[in-house]
Amino acid sequence: MDSILVTGNGPLNGQIPIAGAKNACLTLMPATLLSEEPLTLTNAPRLSDIKTMTALLQSLGAEVSSLQDGQVIAMSSHDLTSQTADYEIVRKMRASNLVLGPLLARFGEAVVSLPGGCAIGARPMDLHVEGLEALGAEIELEDGYLHAKAPGGLKGAVHEMRFASVGATENIVMAATLAKGTTVLKNAAREPEIVDLVECLRKMGAQISGEGTSTIEIQGVDRLHGATHQVVTDRIELGTYMLAPAICGGEVELLGGRMSLVESFAEKLDAAGVDVVQTKDGLKVARKNGRVRSVDVVTEPFPGFPTDLQAQMMALMCTAEGTSVLEERIFENRFMHAPELVRMGANIEVHGGTATVTGVESLKGAPVMATDLRASVSLILAGMAAEGETTVSRVYHLDRGYEHVVRKLEGVGAKIERIKGQ
Ligand code: UD1
Repeated sequence: MDSILVTGNGPLNGQIPIAGAKNACLTLMPATLLSEEPLTLTNAPRLSDIKTMTALLQSLGAEVSSLQDGQVIAMSSHDLTSQTADYEIVRKMRASNLVLGPLLARFGEAVVSLPGGCAIGARPMDLHVEGLEALGAEIELEDGYLHAKAPGGLKGAVHEMRFASVGATENIVMAATLAKGTTVLKNAAREPEIVDLVECLRKMGAQISGEGTSTIEIQGVDRLHGATHQVVTDRIELGTYMLAPAICGGEVELLGGRMSLVESFAEKLDAAGVDVVQTKDGLKVARKNGRVRSVDVVTEPFPGFPTDLQAQMMALMCTAEGTSVLEERIFENRFMHAPELVRMGANIEVHGGTATVTGVESLKGAPVMATDLRASVSLILAGMAAEGETTVSRVYHLDRGYEHVVRKLEGVGAKIERIKGQ
């Protein structure tokens, strides 16, 4: 298995291009199932999660081609052959559950294995099921698979989610595009990836309003047509690389970055003493004077502080002046990076969903293990700010969500290399 070797190397300078959003692409790809006509995505990220979704769609009979070195994904669901998402693929990635809504809407039937994904909590599917049932689906759990049926087709309804789940919002919105009548989804998630999905669905002929607010209204149509859509910038990759100059010092411009994608995160960086400015090409982030200050963080649904940046923010707080409290409210069990950071000399105490971090003057390189996608990149950031060498093992987690991480960080002066496994 490959590992990544990082050597602490002082301030960073230069530019990092930010890719299209993994999480947007993973919901845009299943949207192909809603139409007989082709759907083409541009600005797609080159990631193993995208390959997993490609394999899943192909297993359903969709044609999926990767063009222009993977940045363009051309799909057609003209001749689907199956409505079953198999455990062998779904267990690799939770986002596989996003085929449920589209399959059910187009064929009145879907069988989807319960998902796997990052080991960061229970992550059930109840909110997806409740929403689709509100649209008239009958759903049963049998042998680890959700069997969903809507013999007479889905019907629009008013439904309020108990929690603003991102995936459930996406599944319900996609399903409602082909339902009869109007659906009003209340307490919907407001993440930029949902806005991106709706913009694509609208290009396909869907009638939707209210995306980006907590009430989304969908007027069902008989059919959707083909479209071409550019995937929105990855705000989590953006936030991750914004932390690189914050933790190492220096000045880095994140190309394609937009403040509106990372507002609450940028506010925290500002409070910590890191400058963030919008330029014409992206966001410029600089830390020029001394150590950062500690700040407290509570993870929340968008527009709050993203849970997917909590681990990376913790790495920064490990080197801050003072004590910070990080509260994780979205997922239980999402502090698996904390004991690894402690191996590098960090001072962290975890009680339930709260981590208290007292900054140290400098971290020390150590062998550490990646436990999930965002945890793995937090260890790389910590390694870049540490004295000596850090080896991060189990980097397959990283390949799920960060394209060319070594090349991108090397490009701004980090000392980082991938070591091939035996
Ligand atoms: C998406 C993102 C993930 C991010 C998360 C929260 C994708 C592919 N992944 O995941 O990177 O960390 O949003 O911003 O877009 N829940 C239930 N029942 C459900 C569904 C969810 O209890 O039916 C709970 C989950 O266990 C979790 C919380 O709701 O505690 C948030 O989950 P959700 O918003 O659904 O996240 P995902 O869509 O899985």
